[in-house]
Amino acid sequence: MFTPIKIGSLEMKNRFVRSATHEYMADENGFVNKRIATLYSQLAENHVACIITGYAYVQPNGKSSERQAGIFDDRFISGYKKLVAAAHSKGSKIVLQVAHGGRQSKPELCGGDPVCPSAVPDPKTGIQPREMLEPEIIEVIDSFSEAVRRGKEAGFDAVELHAAHGYLLSQFLSPHTNRRSDRWGGSEENRFRVLEEILCRSRDKVGSDYPIWVKLNSEDCLEIGLKVEDVVKVAHRLKEAGIAAIEVSGGMMEAGMKTARTRITNEEREAYFLPAALKIKEATSLPVFVVGGFRSASTIQKAINQEIEMVSLSRPFIREPDLVKKIQGGKSRVDCISCNACFNPEGIRCKHIT
Ligand SMILES: Cc1cc2nc3c(=O)[nH]c(=O)nc-3n(C[C@H](O)[C@H](O)[C@H](O)COP(=O)(O)O)c2cc1C
Repeated sequence: MFTPIKIGSLEMKNRFVRSATHEYMADENGFVNKRIATLYSQLAENHVACIITGYAYVQPNGKSSERQAGIFDDRFISGYKKLVAAAHSKGSKIVLQVAHGGRQSKPELCGGDPVCPSAVPDPKTGIQPREMLEPEIIEVIDSFSEAVRRGKEAGFDAVELHAAHGYLLSQFLSPHTNRRSDRWGGSEENRFRVLEEILCRSRDKVGSDYPIWVKLNSEDCLEIGLKVEDVVKVAHRLKEAGIAAIEVSGGMMEAGMKTARTRITNEEREAYFLPAALKIKEATSLPVFVVGGFRSASTIQKAINQEIEMVSLSRPFIREPDLVKKIQGGKSRVDCISCNACFNPEGIRCKHIT
């Protein structure tokens, strides 16, 4: 786990990634600030090889959380340049994650009714989304590709499209939330079309060499949602479309807390998306990262031994920003108890830090 690796053109100094973690620290208009730069600087100086930002919304109507960062206008670029500088000055790579909330956008934040490929209500949030019109889909494709361009202009080493966790791109992929009968829904090929178009438009803007990653659900954790066999097909299509890496996760808001699980009390409960990640890796040979419940050095090493390129962690780095250094020094298990109290609208923090 401490061996350097090259992911496409990017050299990583070890196998640790700070998975995208919405910090609840941007201002109310979506601008990032010194508080986030300080956090990234701390992770970078403690040997995290790659930091993925919290999800940045690509359109105002895709905002899904308080104090979320935005990337829907060129005015955001200068702020992000400071985050990039904070990571680079301490030798870490940094990746911008871009997202649209779709039906998981918050009505009070997104300026109207949340949209979705199909008008499928979310029983967890009580939101009844509005089905997207064709021009809105075209606009979303353009917004994602503009966000990728902005990411490159800000100096990010790569941009990650958030196509997991039940947000808009995940909604397009999933047969549960995408029940359209036009060219954007129905067959697996049609459900993939939005991602394909985003990748194609982005390539026109950033060139063929700029790394684009995708965070993907290995399963939606719903009865009629995506299963790993479906996702392997999506991964093949992503490979054909020239993406540089896949980060494997899972779950949707509607499915409950399947993404950031609690009670990870022993090794059997750790690394809950690793088996699916291995299937995706074996089928595609793409560089694969995996996130979800890594809590011990031995489990991280096991994933690396099984040819997973990088292991991503979110909550453990909130409690221990210096975790990589500690593991390097012999620490065997993280302190994080996966209680999820770190989801804090005033800014992520661990209440157990003494
Ligand atoms: C406070 C918090 C914010 C998160 N924000 C994001 C996000 O912006 N984008 C994303 O893809 N995942 C997000 N996640 C999910 C994590 O990236 C990760 O998939 C999940 O927490 C499981 O990994 P862990 O067990 O290492 O925490 C967030 C998780 C937490 C705890």
